[in-house]
Amino acid sequence: MTKIAFIGAGNMNGAIISGLIKKGYDATQVIVSNPSAEKRLALHQKLGVLHTDNNIEASEFADTIVLGVKPHLITAVCADISKHIDISNKCFISIAAGCTVAQMQTSLAKPCAIIRTMPNTPSQLGLGVTGLYSASGVSENQKLVAEELMSSVGIIKWLASEDEIDNITVVSGSGPAYFFLFMEAMEQQALNLGFTAQESRELVQQTALGAAQMVVQNQIPISELRANVTSKGGTTNAAIQSFIKDGLPQVVTNAMNSALHRAKEMAQNS
Ligand SMILES: NC(=O)c1ccc[n+]([C@@H]2O[C@H](COP(=O)([O-])OP(=O)(O)OC[C@H]3O[C@@H](n4cnc5c(N)ncnc54)[C@H](OP(=O)(O)O)[C@@H]3O)[C@@H](O)[C@H]2O)c1
Repeated sequence: MTKIAFIGAGNMNGAIISGLIKKGYDATQVIVSNPSAEKRLALHQKLGVLHTDNNIEASEFADTIVLGVKPHLITAVCADISKHIDISNKCFISIAAGCTVAQMQTSLAKPCAIIRTMPNTPSQLGLGVTGLYSASGVSENQKLVAEELMSSVGIIKWLASEDEIDNITVVSGSGPAYFFLFMEAMEQQALNLGFTAQESRELVQQTALGAAQMVVQNQIPISELRANVTSKGGTTNAAIQSFIKDGLPQVVTNAMNSALHRAKEMAQNS
């Protein structure tokens, strides 16, 4: 079994560690490194994983090193590890948004395997989507480890080029916030109609959950699901026609194009 070091014991690494151990991964093969004690101790006590405040010690122990610190810390963390240990047989898996393989390669400064991933926030509930891109020099076995890790928090999709990380960021990475905005607007209108705050929240969240489950459980085109609940001349149809007249599909396209533009801009400036 591959030994895995998690650098950072924050929300996302914590979710991946929990998912992995719940799926039966041997906790004695997993170490988590975090400067402050509280979060790594909690993971140790709950799941039995090893813990340390020393990234070098953790990296030395492991074959696979999961970089789960904030993006602005990735290069310093990589440079520090590479300075102190032989990384030639290690595989680095980054979950940091916006941090490119080239940036990591530069700070690691020696040849090693690098996989860049883009998970999304629902991964924290095991309902995530993760895009993965492997740079050259990554073995099939190392890819399998990355798959096992990220599958423990949701579904995964391998990407053929690093550019596609930007594309998946626009769809599943930023996507949860698009749905939140829509739900916020519906919640506000429920309030305007006289429902209490709690009622409005419940009505909207249960409707969103039910709609998402219908999409999951009926693998027919989503447009067909919509047509099935939209009778001609009815109330739903009035709302749908209003959305279309106001250009909702184009509004969504524009927003996703803006996100893509921003992702490219950030990659260029980094
Ligand atoms: N959260 C998400 O939904 C999400 C989605 C996609 C991608 N990501 C990516 O996941 C990464 C982590 O995000 P997060 O939300 O999990 O952040 P987070 O909860 O703030 O976790 C970051 C952790 O890194 C620790 N840390 C700070 N400096 C460190 C160092 N030098 N060595 C080791 N650990 C160190 C922090 O410890 P202290 O608290 O003790 O400082 C903290 O526990 C980010 O790069 C982010 O882009 C997150």
